[in-house]
Amino acid sequence: MKKAVVAIGGNALNKPGEKPSAEAMKKNLLGTVKHLADLIEDGYDLVITHGNGPQVGNLLVQQEIAKDTLPPFPIDVNDAMTQGSIGYLITQTLGNELKSRGTERQIACVLTQIIVDRNDPGFENPTKPVGPFYDEETAKKLQAEKGWIMKEDAGRGWRRVVPSPKPLDVVEIEAIKALTGNDFILVAGGGGGIPVVKKDDGTLEGVEAVIDKDRASALLARLLDADLFLILTAVDHAYINFGKPDQKALERISVNEAKKLMDEGHFAKGSMYPKIESAIDFVESTGKEAIITSLEKVKEAIQGKSGTHITK
Ligand SMILES: Nc1ncnc2c1ncn2[C@@H]1O[C@H](COP(=O)(O)OP(=O)(O)O)[C@@H](O)[C@H]1O
Ligand SMILES: [Mg+2]
Repeated sequence: MKKAVVAIGGNALNKPGEKPSAEAMKKNLLGTVKHLADLIEDGYDLVITHGNGPQVGNLLVQQEIAKDTLPPFPIDVNDAMTQGSIGYLITQTLGNELKSRGTERQIACVLTQIIVDRNDPGFENPTKPVGPFYDEETAKKLQAEKGWIMKEDAGRGWRRVVPSPKPLDVVEIEAIKALTGNDFILVAGGGGGIPVVKKDDGTLEGVEAVIDKDRASALLARLLDADLFLILTAVDHAYINFGKPDQKALERISVNEAKKLMDEGHFAKGSMYPKIESAIDFVESTGKEAIITSLEKVKEAIQGKSGTHITK
């Protein structure tokens, strides 16, 4: 069996402009899991990772509105909640899809904590916006009362920003290894994992931060020594000159070429850049291949007919 870590993007769960109800998420997943089931039928043992940006943001909004009745939870606890809700929906829809194809496989969702360094430079300069928008006055009040760091977000209002530290280690890695080695299909590392720091006495403590899901997925793929790292997003390829008349899809690039294009600024910082960076990280340390493509093109990409393939 070949082992693949598959990172699924935001569009696998919610379409732009759609009300993010549980029904909508379930409906979108019915399409998503068909592509994942194809990979399983092609002989891949999957470890599925997913983002949670919109979902964790929505939980924070719900709690903000209800805060006079019930105390809001910190972000790490909310991350755990989204690992549960999204993981539940993926395991159930994928399980049903496999059953309808006559394939019986066990699927498990592993609650995943990821260790970050308390001295990560990200903590000095938080950049990741989370949760609701506020007017300037409320934002300043929250900053004073709660010690949150508030920043103006692209003319749309004020938002809380949290650090996005580098993922260093996966607390549950041995459980994940044991399960994948025993034919389980897994959902793990959801939302980039729950960020935790290791204290001097070795105990763990959650921190209010958001780990980039592509970076967390690369770490997981590396620790599992996966045969393939798939990053599935809204576009079939990574492009150079993206969005310009002369944009060009990248089909096969080496790690060195990818680094050069990254330095030339072809990949947007909040979206494609972390995918390229994560693909490089995986390929450099394992010598295996990473592919960036869409859910719809994943089958063709595996056959070498689509997607951006990054190799050593
Ligand atoms: N050079 C590029 N090539 C392809 N897509 C790019 C590029 N630069 C930025 N993007 C954007 O990156 C998006 C994918 O990243 P993101 O929106 O973060 O999705 P995900 O939820 O899958 O992480 C694409 O939909 C595209 O709009
Ligand atoms: Mg993204």
